Amino acid sequence: MALSCRLWHDRGAVSERLDLDRLQSLLRTEFVGRSVSYHQSVTSTMEVAKREAESGAPEGAIVIAEEQTAGRGRMGRSWVSPPSVNLYLTVVLRPTLDQLRYLAVIAPLAVCQAVEEATGLLPRIKWPNDVAIGDKKVSGILVQSELAGDEVQFALAGIGINVNLDASAYAEIAQIATSLRAELGREVSREEVLAATLNHLETLYQALRRGEVVSMAWKHRLDTLGKHVRVQSADGSVLEQGVAVDADSDGSLILRRDDGSHVRVEAGEVTLRPGSG
Ligand code: BTN
Repeated sequence: MALSCRLWHDRGAVSERLDLDRLQSLLRTEFVGRSVSYHQSVTSTMEVAKREAESGAPEGAIVIAEEQTAGRGRMGRSWVSPPSVNLYLTVVLRPTLDQLRYLAVIAPLAVCQAVEEATGLLPRIKWPNDVAIGDKKVSGILVQSELAGDEVQFALAGIGINVNLDASAYAEIAQIATSLRAELGREVSREEVLAATLNHLETLYQALRRGEVVSMAWKHRLDTLGKHVRVQSADGSVLEQGVAVDADSDGSLILRRDDGSHVRVEAGEVTLRPGSG
């Protein structure tokens, strides 16, 4: 065991624990990632971050874990979270109500930009906010918020990135997921991907706070446009189907139904319609 750890280190890429000093040295941010709550194992970083946000964690604070025992995905699904191979983090943000809905736009975009910067790979976004390489998912985003009336108490941007995962070892995701290591054929530094993600996230969040349009770059990466899709709810019922002809700046998808009418879809799970390629 000791020998294999040594060998890993000698190859310079992976470690069982994230190197937080290295992370800080790679950060170019003012506040995102400057306060770090690091855990070996948690149920879900969303749960820990919620408690920390309620106790006044500063904006940009992150909760990060080597492993999640009950990692959560969108629409009530779970998120495969084995130890030390991936990134599982939640960022605490305090946006206005107007800014809140754009977090689901900037978070996947930040991940795409970060993966591109750290690895040269070119990930795309599958609506609404999955990050995929080819047709396989490499990252998922879960945004949750706490409101008091019209006021946002805090928002939580949960980000899972498959960095060095062997997805084929997990039957439930073997056919639909990939990792940066699988795509590149070599180990990838989690610290580099994490730092790049936080750097890009802060840049985009600052642009959002200045009132700049952040959705054009998101739309540019949106792989779903032009495809025949089916949008389903968590229980599998079909909400809409049609051609994804456009996306709104707030992340909604515009579909053209078979009868020619248009409909705006705000949430759901998109699958390609059989035979649509
Ligand atoms: C999805 O695509 O379904 C969203 C997945 C979000 C996973 C991340 S991992 C860090 C954070 N903690 C969780 O329990 N979920 C998010």
